[in-house]
Amino acid sequence: MDKIRHNLLEIYNKSITSKNPLSWFEEIYNQADSNREWIPWDWKEPHPFVVEWIEKSENKGNALVIGCGLGEDAAYLSKNGWNVTAFDISETAIKWASEIHKDPGIDWKVADLFYLPDSWKMRYDLVLEVHILQAIQEDLMIEAREKLAPLVSTNGHLVCIGKLRINDEIVEGPPWPMSKESIEETGKELDIVEFHVSHIPEKEDIRYRATWKRDI
Ligand SMILES: C[S@@+](CC[C@H](N)C(=O)[O-])C[C@H]1O[C@@H](n2cnc3c(N)ncnc32)[C@H](O)[C@@H]1O
Repeated sequence: MDKIRHNLLEIYNKSITSKNPLSWFEEIYNQADSNREWIPWDWKEPHPFVVEWIEKSENKGNALVIGCGLGEDAAYLSKNGWNVTAFDISETAIKWASEIHKDPGIDWKVADLFYLPDSWKMRYDLVLEVHILQAIQEDLMIEAREKLAPLVSTNGHLVCIGKLRINDEIVEGPPWPMSKESIEETGKELDIVEFHVSHIPEKEDIRYRATWKRDI
């Protein structure tokens, strides 16, 4: 096991018995001390499934990036004409992302998906979630996935991206790839538009992008 994975598991294992089981995210960013190599999920570029979706989409408007981490997807959306709000539970991640991407068009916020303001409901033309649900342990993930669809405006889209779980494989997470059934639950109050599955060159595992739309 490499040292980055070892560090993640050590921090994660400590947090699960603590009062705040999501505190390990902040600790990972904080310990990294501005060195991106210590952030195991940082691809240093927008997710290719985000790029593909934006390239084929004619929509624009208000976008909300959930758990934006170091902000590559948020910055990409902003460059492509979206009004972006990007939030993360980690204060260090938000400060760091705003320093990397000096884009005055992005509204960076520290916020917890479990406690979002009511005023955000049905406000966003695009709600984007990349690798968040799969990073949250299952008991909390079930509650977290309910929080996404209510944020989508009429005619807006919810886009979720992650690793697909195949054949009930047992995985030592985090992350925990999601089954198709679990992904479908995420957008059940919306209309499904696509369930795209493929490999990404040089990345392991099979990946999905699920898109839903709120028609009325
Ligand atoms: C695996 S990382 C993915 C980060 C980013 N989306 C990316 O693709 O690089 C999961 C992110 O979700 C954030 N996160 C976890 N739980 C959260 C919550 N309840 N509310 C907001 N952000 C959360 C973490 O701090 C972390 O930045």
